[in-house]
Amino acid sequence: MLSAGQASPTVQESPVPLTRLDFADPALLEELMGAVRDVAERGAFTLGEPVEAFEREFAAYCETDFAVGVSSGTEALALALRALEIGPGDEVIVPSNSFIATAEAVSAVGATPRLVDVDPDSHLITAEIVAEHLGPRVRCVIPVHLFGATVELDDILALTREAGVHLIEDACQAHGARYRGRRVGSLGVFGCFSFYPTKNLGAWGDGGAVVTSVPELADRVKLLRAHGERPRYNHRMVGTTARLDALQAAVLRRKLARLEGWNDERRRLGATLRTRLQTELAELSDPGSVPAIELVSAPSAEGDHVFHLFVIRCEERDALREHLAARGVASAVHYPTPIHLTEAYAGLGLEPGSLPVCERLAERMCSLPLFPGMSDAELERVVAGVRSFAQDRATETR
Ligand SMILES: Cc1ncc(COP(=O)(O)O)c(C=O)c1O
Repeated sequence: MLSAGQASPTVQESPVPLTRLDFADPALLEELMGAVRDVAERGAFTLGEPVEAFEREFAAYCETDFAVGVSSGTEALALALRALEIGPGDEVIVPSNSFIATAEAVSAVGATPRLVDVDPDSHLITAEIVAEHLGPRVRCVIPVHLFGATVELDDILALTREAGVHLIEDACQAHGARYRGRRVGSLGVFGCFSFYPTKNLGAWGDGGAVVTSVPELADRVKLLRAHGERPRYNHRMVGTTARLDALQAAVLRRKLARLEGWNDERRRLGATLRTRLQTELAELSDPGSVPAIELVSAPSAEGDHVFHLFVIRCEERDALREHLAARGVASAVHYPTPIHLTEAYAGLGLEPGSLPVCERLAERMCSLPLFPGMSDAELERVVAGVRSFAQDRATETR
């Protein structure tokens, strides 16, 4: 909401949202409504054909042998950990610069997240950081491909192999990204995905998937997600209710067919937005006096970036966000508190200052609008908003 005195977008200029959901595309909406109707008319809401078909198609997409549909990304991580028999007494290395769910999944199985810092440039976990934290109780590492950018996995994989430690990829924000030519999720023993509605592949509610090429592990997750049951009322292990709904699977199948195109569009928009911001900021009269705005959203040499989020860093992040809001440009902060400083994880005893890179990032990161279907005009309004903020600040400090 704009407050009095703030510049408002003109009538022609409706706000630029951070992302856009399916209802914005009438043809897609129609197709998805048809898929939902189809499931409703069959009255088969749990597992069955839509889920099995989606699992086959998602495994093929991820270039793994198996995919198991589950109820959320958090459950995907927790069930992967349970399938590996990770639990009380075990530690799992997790970057503190992630959504809290990565750590919560570890806690949910009774293990302890070992929260670690990240690289200041890539904002991701590195092999050096993992090496520092491997210890006798560590049984698993969960690198997070945050914002759609890929973690440098090769050295981490070598380290974990040598140490006899599992590696689960948290690919909840990076569906379809490639690292050294391979799909993320296919490099670790498990890859975990979220289909939260705003994700690059989003359901119409909650959903998730685990991918793996180890048949016994895929089978264990299948049992765990549905009461360890096989056949009916024969319970082989203590499981839970964590199935992907047939309704969600039906929606996801239709959207998966479009994912490659959407990701390509995200990559193109990400590269354009980056170049445009770079050019505009470099052209400011006195770039040295501008509050530092860092454009970090470039893919690494061996990796990829599917721009789930386009994130910049700004010393005066909150002022930048106000400036953008006044011009009808949405923004967000992912995430304002690193996991180790949340109330939920106060019990780990990690004080402010203990993971300084994550803490500094949390103060400066700012997500800008980026979504398939974003028009050139919308992109230029984002550029103009950031540019005018930087220009105003440069003028003020002169
Ligand atoms: C990096 C990361 N891990 C895990 C999750 C958990 O996924 P879900 O919300 O589907 O439980 C998310 C979702 O936002 C995420 O972004």
